[in-house]
Amino acid sequence: MSIQEDQIKALVERRQSAALGGGEKRIEAQHAKGKLTARERIAKLLDPGSFEEFDMFVQHRCTNFGMDASHTDGDGVVTGQGTIDGRLVFIYAQDFTVNGGSLSKTMSEKICKVMDTAVKVGAPLIGLNDSGGARIQEGIDALAGYGEIFERNILSSGVIPQISVIMGPCAGGAVYSPALTDFTIMVDKTSYMFLTGPTVVKSVTGETVTQEELGGAAVHSGKSGVAHFASDTEDDAIDKVKRLLSFLPQNNLEEAPRRASSDPVGRVSDSLNSVIPDNPNKAYDMYGVIEAIVDDGDFFEVHRNFARNIIVGFAHMGGRSVGVVANQPGVLAGVLDINASRKAARFVRFCDAFNIPLLTLVDVPGFLCGTQQEYGAIITNGAKLLYAYGEATVPKVTVTLRKSYGGAHIVMSCKQLRGDINYAWPSAAIAVMGADGAVGVLYGKELKAETDPQKQAALAEQRKEEYNELFCNPYQAAQKGYIEDVIEPRNTRFRVIRAFEVLAQKRQELPAKKHDNMPL
Ligand code: HXC
Repeated sequence: MSIQEDQIKALVERRQSAALGGGEKRIEAQHAKGKLTARERIAKLLDPGSFEEFDMFVQHRCTNFGMDASHTDGDGVVTGQGTIDGRLVFIYAQDFTVNGGSLSKTMSEKICKVMDTAVKVGAPLIGLNDSGGARIQEGIDALAGYGEIFERNILSSGVIPQISVIMGPCAGGAVYSPALTDFTIMVDKTSYMFLTGPTVVKSVTGETVTQEELGGAAVHSGKSGVAHFASDTEDDAIDKVKRLLSFLPQNNLEEAPRRASSDPVGRVSDSLNSVIPDNPNKAYDMYGVIEAIVDDGDFFEVHRNFARNIIVGFAHMGGRSVGVVANQPGVLAGVLDINASRKAARFVRFCDAFNIPLLTLVDVPGFLCGTQQEYGAIITNGAKLLYAYGEATVPKVTVTLRKSYGGAHIVMSCKQLRGDINYAWPSAAIAVMGADGAVGVLYGKELKAETDPQKQAALAEQRKEEYNELFCNPYQAAQKGYIEDVIEPRNTRFRVIRAFEVLAQKRQELPAKKHDNMPL
């Protein structure tokens, strides 16, 4: 064997050893917990053969607590580039088999390198998190490493899509990197996120709680909204990343890829002409409306389990990726509350940052009232959605299906928030409030003066009819040019697609400023 052949053999052996991370035993332990290793996850996520690893031989530089005696090539994180459906992505995957995936200074340097390269070339960043947090032996160096990652998360925000997948522990300040990214996907039963674990919670507050109850996938995808998606398995989480990316551009200077579809642009949906119930207080399912108008009925929902009174997600219309925001009359009558406002505002801002046009489907009775909402700052939180729509410069098409009352009417992408094309169905009621509330305010004294209950009820009914006749229709708004047209529901698909075609070249600027001061 020549010297060069020896060198190549040594390289291959070193690569093989590095690829084992913390070794066979720890890999077995990882599998026993129902988790894949970092490399197995990468292999499933990326196109076969596309992964190119960075910094495979990097080692930590810590000398505390005898750490200088233990070195593993790669140091607890696998980083590099590859493709998904042929499109470039950058990736890091924490390797729990090496020191529990804990973050050392060199590990953060590896992560920062892929983050910097992703921004430099304009491609999405995907982080697969499975870590015991800051490497305790490294002290302040590990904390500094987190700071460097967070700073890059912030500077990359709105430049490239950033996706975090939580596939194991994610605790302490480490949770703030996913929180700074655009989307967080958690795996049910094997991942958790919290600032302080159950033991500390018990000693500080006396509360007894399990990891799952404190920060499992169900909690964060349903209650807190920290996670956008909960997956049953790691495979499912990986599929979600792929599907999500298919709706997104590579960066803020590009548009999302078009998707070919055999669904005709001119397809009419007759079922939409009878979807609105006769009784205005009766619910219907907004999912059915969305599926009837988007390409192939294919809707990818974000935040499915959180604030279900509003629906947000991605679809294609005429091949173009669009962000859909829709009130859901089937949950809390589609009212806007704190969580619905937060959820939709974040989604609108994401779409605006990444050139994804917005379709807003409106059926909203107003904002939720009461002390719980007021004390929780519904004013500030509702203003987030108002702000997000008002500043968004992407094409915005709005269709009002039924109720559009009061402040909630303004918030849901109305004309005055620079809605580009606003349509309404004939069933739309665009008004300050519904007839019940309005008649109580306007005719309260008159109704009280009528002492016969039957006559009082008849009078109230008459006043409501008069009010509905005058205000609860789309024609007041249409007469004043606040909506472009009243359209037949069955034609919604092609009217919306045509509107987006027209708006494709839209250019709109915001005034120059350092940054805005949106109501956080
Ligand atoms: C160094 C760590 C580590 C850490 C785990 N390990 N976490 N080493 N620093 N933070 C090591 C363990 O010593 C063990 O090594 C191996 O990883 C596997 O860990 P186990 O405990 O055996 O695994 P498991 O039973 O599955 O428990 C996982 C765990 C637990 C729940 C994550 O390890 C744990 O509680 N770790 C500490 C978590 C934590 O408090 N981190 C600091 C958070 S604060 P050996 O060699 O024995 O197998 C933080 C600040 C960030 O991160 C600040 C950002 C601003």
